Amino acid sequence: MNFLISGCAGFIGYHLSNYLCKKYKNSKIIGFDNLNNYYSVKLKKKRISNLKKNRNFSFSKIDLKDKKKLSELFKKRKIKIVFHLAAQAGVRDSLKMPKSYFKSNFEGYINIINLSKMNKIKKFIFASSSSVYGDQKKFPINEKTKIIPKNIYAATKKVNEEIGEDLSKISNMKVIGLRFFTVYGKYGRPDMFVFKYLESLIKRKNFNLFNKGNHLRDYTHIEDVVEMMDLLMRKKMKNNFEIFNICSNKPIDINKLSLFIAKFVGIKPKLSLRARNQIEVVKTHGDNRKILKFLKYKIKKNIYLELPKIITWYKQNKIWNFKV
Ligand SMILES: NC(=O)c1ccc[n+]([C@@H]2O[C@H](COP(=O)([O-])OP(=O)(O)OC[C@H]3O[C@@H](n4cnc5c(N)ncnc54)[C@H](O)[C@@H]3O)[C@@H](O)[C@H]2O)c1
Repeated sequence: MNFLISGCAGFIGYHLSNYLCKKYKNSKIIGFDNLNNYYSVKLKKKRISNLKKNRNFSFSKIDLKDKKKLSELFKKRKIKIVFHLAAQAGVRDSLKMPKSYFKSNFEGYINIINLSKMNKIKKFIFASSSSVYGDQKKFPINEKTKIIPKNIYAATKKVNEEIGEDLSKISNMKVIGLRFFTVYGKYGRPDMFVFKYLESLIKRKNFNLFNKGNHLRDYTHIEDVVEMMDLLMRKKMKNNFEIFNICSNKPIDINKLSLFIAKFVGIKPKLSLRARNQIEVVKTHGDNRKILKFLKYKIKKNIYLELPKIITWYKQNKIWNFKV
């Protein structure tokens, strides 16, 4: 069985590709990415060079917008499962460069899901986001909650879910949308809190803490995420379309987390307390009972036990440079 993974140079795509390469040695893991410069290209290339150590991995530099090249990729290989993780990620930049979100997350999404349908793919598993929920009052949030995206990024993910559901009705392809809640781990995204904050500490620079750090985030470890994705890929499905929260069901206080990291690193932070950024949600706390029951899975990782390992790894492997 061959797998296609879009966004394999990205954080989640990298870990998923690596996991599948190691577990399914007789399968081919076909990855592609446009290696854009939204954050360190050096980090993306490092992930690809790690992946290339697996004999069953192949990489192509392709943009989701390039229908012709994408279609050739589908034709050349006998792909059974598509994991679609490529997207313009991040909430804050979606106001500054909405076009790029539209091109990758809307146009690009339509290209890959249509090609998957035309090539009779069995399962199309794609990344949605917890941000589709917007600001809610009742927690934990389950998949039946009415979604109210509050920024362009979240709106593109909502549309992805709607298109996915529509296509699943007119084909035999199973379509699964995953609402990821703040995924963390080694080789994590430098535009997200943990690594951005670490970098500011180590460089002894100011760090902008929005809403004075009064945010709660449901952090989910990458190893739990890829294990659940693997199980989902193999699980028989009754319905043609499903949405799952991928979360730990444990909201983490950002103020507490920043103190923990600073204490572990042993450097006093220089914090600039900023007002709330209105496009960001204050709290995420997902209900993960649907996915845990469906897969008979138990969340394994605890952020306060994992962070020391990640920080130590980061200090030994500084492979990217970015502004803080
Ligand atoms: N990491 C999280 O906490 C989180 C939370 C919610 C949702 N998500 C979603 O999960 C998916 C993976 O996230 P990630 O954290 O790995 O992000 P990432 O930015 O590290 O990975 C995305 C990859 O897609 C590639 N890409 C972007 N546009 C492309 C295009 N037009 N054509 C080809 N490649 C393109 C990028 O170069 C990048 O390597 C994304 O869809 C993201 O929106 C992630």
